[in-house]
Amino acid sequence: MEPKTIVITGASDGIGAEAARQLKKMGHQVVIVGRSPEKTARVAKELEAPYHIADYSRLSDVVRLAEELRQYPKIDVLVNNAGGAQNKRTLTGDGFERTFQINLLAGFLLTNLLLEKLCESRATVVQTSSIAANLFGSGFNVNDLQSEQNYKAFEAYGAAKLEDILFTRELQKRYGEQGICAVAFEPGVVRTNFASESTPFVKFMYHSPFKYLFTISPKRSAKRLTFLAAGTPGADFLAGEVYSGKKLMKLKFRDPDGTIAKSLWDSCLKMVEKYL
Ligand SMILES: NC(=O)c1ccc[n+]([C@@H]2O[C@H](COP(=O)([O-])OP(=O)(O)OC[C@H]3O[C@@H](n4cnc5c(N)ncnc54)[C@H](OP(=O)(O)O)[C@@H]3O)[C@@H](O)[C@H]2O)c1
Repeated sequence: MEPKTIVITGASDGIGAEAARQLKKMGHQVVIVGRSPEKTARVAKELEAPYHIADYSRLSDVVRLAEELRQYPKIDVLVNNAGGAQNKRTLTGDGFERTFQINLLAGFLLTNLLLEKLCESRATVVQTSSIAANLFGSGFNVNDLQSEQNYKAFEAYGAAKLEDILFTRELQKRYGEQGICAVAFEPGVVRTNFASESTPFVKFMYHSPFKYLFTISPKRSAKRLTFLAAGTPGADFLAGEVYSGKKLMKLKFRDPDGTIAKSLWDSCLKMVEKYL
């Protein structure tokens, strides 16, 4: 097996850190990206891997991160995994709703800034979505990406995770023929730091002694990611799709001709155009 260079964002903790451990064990070169310098350095040291720091609530950090990542001779896999849920509506310093920016827009910008390298490397781009796309994303409105109308934390999160899937489809459509394979997955309900600042019910599910009843381990969840990151597009999984384990996830949201995915892409492009 040829070792791959695999960049994972949100790799300082949870599913991303665990996937990095598994991929390193398989013999791949992992590149750790995190927000917390201490946590990121700790995981990188454990894995003897290079690391980079970026806070996705600052798009200028994403621009710097892209410059650093362009120095690698190739990127075989980019995993846009950084993300999480917020409990109230706040704007980032860039002026975008935080859930939207952290779960979609920052990864959208990073991917676009790295397009040349990703195409040259014939890279797989993996997006960490969520079952929340089906559970809470049905009311998604591409004309209200900042959740200005009637903000509800889990609806905003469900919408962002649905956007991850629409982004995957559109990335495949636009750049599939130029060498990119885009794919998304839902990691399950996983006992990580996720939602540590969420509603009392969600905190109970994830962080109480009863969490073992509701959640799976990061180790088990990370196998869903490593299956895609280490796998071969076409042979192991299909481009432009979203997976739940090794099975395709059926998306409830309907966008049969891709109009909404295209509109989402065009809107995001306008938001970040000054960085491109
Ligand atoms: N846990 C679940 O049940 C579940 C279910 C569905 C989907 N997901 C998705 O899975 C992905 C990983 O989450 P997890 O469960 O592993 O949670 P986690 O343990 O909280 O890890 C989240 C990762 O994202 C990074 N991150 C968070 N906010 C960031 C920001 N503003 N800028 C840059 N990086 C940021 C964190 O960095 P630091 O640690 O350095 O701050 C950490 O590395 C997320 O996209 C999440 O939405 C999780």
